[in-house]
Amino acid sequence: MKKLNIAILPGDGIGPEIVEQALNVTKAICKKFGHELSYEYAIVGACAIDEVGEPYPKATHELCMKSDAVLFGAIGDPKYDNNPSAKVRPEQGLLKMRKDLGLYANIRPVSTFPSLIHKSPLRADLVDGADFMCIRELTGGMYFGRPQGRAEDGNTAYDTCVYTREEVERILHLAYKYALQRRKKVTMVDKANVLASSRLWRQIAQEIAPQYPDVETEYMFVDNAAMRIIQWPKSFDVLVTENLFGDILTDEASVITGSLGMLPSASVGIHTSVFEPIHGSYPQAAGKNIANPLATILSAALMFEYAFGMMQEGALIREAVAASMDAGIVTEDIADNAKAYKTSEVGEWIVNYISK
Ligand code: IPM
Ligand code: MN
Repeated sequence: MKKLNIAILPGDGIGPEIVEQALNVTKAICKKFGHELSYEYAIVGACAIDEVGEPYPKATHELCMKSDAVLFGAIGDPKYDNNPSAKVRPEQGLLKMRKDLGLYANIRPVSTFPSLIHKSPLRADLVDGADFMCIRELTGGMYFGRPQGRAEDGNTAYDTCVYTREEVERILHLAYKYALQRRKKVTMVDKANVLASSRLWRQIAQEIAPQYPDVETEYMFVDNAAMRIIQWPKSFDVLVTENLFGDILTDEASVITGSLGMLPSASVGIHTSVFEPIHGSYPQAAGKNIANPLATILSAALMFEYAFGMMQEGALIREAVAASMDAGIVTEDIADNAKAYKTSEVGEWIVNYISK
């Protein structure tokens, strides 16, 4: 028997509703497999700004640091999105959390569900069987590079894309590590024909590739990669790229599977790993009990596997999610013309499946 200490960070918008379902699933798994679970809640994002004036308070960081894993919902609030002059923004909380926990790798597995293929904007024969893993560098690049800001006259603005050798090396080694457990192909995505930081990535990739003779390395410019994800998603196995490119490409990759509401992610690095859906806080749906909880529930599956090495537990969650979809117990985003179920109904069905 193992004791799991988890920090629960629901965040904003639909965060609390979807995290509640993922927590219920986590409890059901612990009960089934005889693990002891202890968990504690903390605030992050717009709700934390409202409550204590900052989006990633010290108390939240301390809880994350002493936990074995963090289950995270989403952050963001429209009242900040439309106010470019807001001094504190909810997103800063997420960025600070990533930086302070040293979460340099964001792992976003993209795979298709047979019952969802017809929802994909792509032809079924293109997506059926697509299965790749995006590894996005998460604590460097333009998100964190300085200087960043506005010239005094207010009419010129700048961001800086900075990468160090150490940052590039560690993420590339991680990509190869995953590729060795998969179909042994790494696609390194950059913009080396234009950007100096990308040329550093490519140089280091060329140095590292020979250390992994069993893995095929492919180099691809980001514009081409954006096209290839649509044109031939099955050609990818492990795609590794810098922070901003990864942000953009993973939103694109997520919808080819049928819904943005399905993709989980794991952020790993130096301290406690964070497990979260890749979608945002969907404020229009907040409190309505209609949001798709599956990406968060699948993030809990990643948590069992990555943070605790509990493969059977993760597999059972995935099986339960697939079963709920086959049974048509799905929220409105993937329900088609069939009956749409509530967030909580989907969660309860999955809990029952696991507990039976
Ligand atoms: C993501 C999100 C975040 C990002 C935002 C909310 C800051 O889009 O996790 O992909 O850009 O990294
Ligand atoms: Mn994003």
